[in-house]
Amino acid sequence: MTDRPSFLERHQFLIYRLFSLAGLIPVGAFLVVHLLTNASVLGGAASFQSRVDMIHSLGPLLVPVEVAFIFLPMAFHAVIGFVIIANGMPNVGSYPYVGNVRYTLQRATGMIAFVFIIWHIIQLHWLGAPLGGGQFDPHHATSTAAAALRPTWVTALYAIGVLSAVFHLANGLWTLGITWGIWTSPAAMQRANVVSVVVGVVLAAAGLGALGGLQATDIEQARKTEDWMEEQRDRLQPPDSATIHQAAASSEDRHTGE
Ligand code: HEM
Repeated sequence: MTDRPSFLERHQFLIYRLFSLAGLIPVGAFLVVHLLTNASVLGGAASFQSRVDMIHSLGPLLVPVEVAFIFLPMAFHAVIGFVIIANGMPNVGSYPYVGNVRYTLQRATGMIAFVFIIWHIIQLHWLGAPLGGGQFDPHHATSTAAAALRPTWVTALYAIGVLSAVFHLANGLWTLGITWGIWTSPAAMQRANVVSVVVGVVLAAAGLGALGGLQATDIEQARKTEDWMEEQRDRLQPPDSATIHQAAASSEDRHTGE
C-alpha cells in the first residue's frame, strides 16, 4: 500500500510560491514602510506624530487593513517558514548557497523576527493591552514609544529584532529572485547581491536611526508638542451632526420669530 502524499506535499509548489510572495508583498513592503515611518522620529516628535496621524486617519478601516494586509500574510509566511525549517516540505529551498552561512542565518533570523514581532505587538499594539502591554498611544506617538523603549535592555533587544528582520528581508530578496527564476546566471546573482546589501544597509540605518531617535527624545517636550497638535486637530474637526442640527434649529427659530 502506498502512502498518500500530504496536503503540503501535493501543493508544495503553489504554497512555496505564495509563501515567497507574501514575504515580499505585503509583509516585506510593510516592513519597509514601517521602518521608514519610524525613522521620521529623527525629524522630531511633530514629524513622527503627523505620519502616525496619517495612518490613523484610516479610522475604522485600520483594523481590517492591518488584519488583511499585515497579520494574516505574516502568520501564513511564519507558519510555512516553520514547516520548512522543520523539514515538513521536501525539496524546497535548494538554493546554490545551500550549506552556507546565509542559508542558516535566513532561518535563524526568521525565528528571531517571529519572537520579536510577537513581543513588539504585545508591548506596543493595543492588542497587547489585556496582557499588560499596549503602551503606544497614537495621539502621543513619540512620547509613549520613547517611554516604552527607554530601558537600555529594551532598546538592545529591539536592535537585535530589527536587524534580524532587516537581514531576513534583504537576504530574502536575493533568495526570492532564485525562487522565481529572476536571476539565474552567476553575474545576475552577483548584481542582485549588491541590491540586497544596499537595501539591507538602508533599512538597518532607518531601523537603528529610529531607536537612536527615541533614546534621544525628551519625553516631556515631545508630550507638549503632541498635546498642542491634538488641540489643533480638534479645532479643525468639522462639527458633528448634533451640533449642526442644533445650529439649524436655532437659526429657524430666529427666522420664524421675525
Ligand atoms: C519581518 C517579517 C518577514 C519578512 C519581511 C520576510 C520575508 C521573507 C522573504 C522575502 C523570504 C524569501 C522567500 C524566497 O526565498 O522565495 C523569506 C524566506 C524565509 N522566511 Fe521570512 N519573512 C518574515 C518573517 C518570517 C518569520 C516570522 C518566519 C518564521 C520562522 C520566516 C521564515 C522564513 C524562512 C524559513 C525562509 C527561507 C525559506 C527557505 O529557506 O527556502 N520569515 N522571508
